[in-house]
Amino acid sequence: MRPHIVTSAVFSLSRLTSTSATTRATKALITSNLPLKAFTVATCPPLRLFSSTASQCTSKPSTTMATPILDLVKSRRTYYVLNKELPISKDRVQEIVKESLLHTPSSFNSQSNRIVVLFGAEHDKLWGIATDILKAIVPEDAWEHTAQRMNGFKAAAGTVLFFEDQKVVDTMQEKFALYADKFPIWAQQSDAMAQYVVWTALTAEGVGANLQHYNPLVDAKVASEWGIPDNWKLNAQLVFGGRSGEAGPKDFQPIEERYKVFGA
Ligand SMILES: Cc1cc2nc3c(=O)[nH]c(=O)nc-3n(C[C@H](O)[C@H](O)[C@H](O)COP(=O)(O)O)c2cc1C
Repeated sequence: MRPHIVTSAVFSLSRLTSTSATTRATKALITSNLPLKAFTVATCPPLRLFSSTASQCTSKPSTTMATPILDLVKSRRTYYVLNKELPISKDRVQEIVKESLLHTPSSFNSQSNRIVVLFGAEHDKLWGIATDILKAIVPEDAWEHTAQRMNGFKAAAGTVLFFEDQKVVDTMQEKFALYADKFPIWAQQSDAMAQYVVWTALTAEGVGANLQHYNPLVDAKVASEWGIPDNWKLNAQLVFGGRSGEAGPKDFQPIEERYKVFGA
């Protein structure tokens, strides 16, 4: 999604101020937050956060269990207009990110995903770095829009940086030569899953977020600023914060054109 870097001008902030029925329904769901809690209580023992052993869910699935998950899937949206007032604590954000990182699947359980969370001044620093880099390459006539975009990100409360560990990918390639060409793809897919889990879980707690891709432009500066190991490859940046605006309208292609079923 590199084109977003240069074509950032096509993302208009104005589209984010409009409302839609979906957004209102989403807000209602997020405000109540009941379905997820009910789901968690009904199906799993309390999660043991940060333990090295994954918690187990032993209860039987019911036919309605997917509904609250799908409601959350529907409620996750891109929020560009964000502020520094998080509706949850920084500790809670970290719990969400750590749990997501721990439980997101990876090919052969290779666990190639890596995450860095930046809050407050550290987050501001990241978007200052991106602004400086972009200023040097964005054409003069596109700068105003790019600068606005950068200011929008800076106005948020934090950024989650998603990386994949190339050392893990290399090791997997050596170990399972038959799938050597697949491991880089699978590592990206696993990272995308982690991005999605974090994004959706933050949504569930009323946090707004948008996904950005200013890599590889910012990679070197990010690595030196936060001591990122050479083998961690930056894939995405999830900007998050309190919501100061609504998600924009969203079109859906007819599902019939995108889905087939056989033998149902
Ligand atoms: C893989 C992927 C890459 C994306 N890259 C960017 C990006 O670089 N910049 C951006 O503003 N939004 C980016 N987005 C957000 C999409 O534009 C957005 O998810 C899509 O328009 C649907 O809107 P929604 O998130 O509100 O459902 C990306 C989303 C995905 C899934």
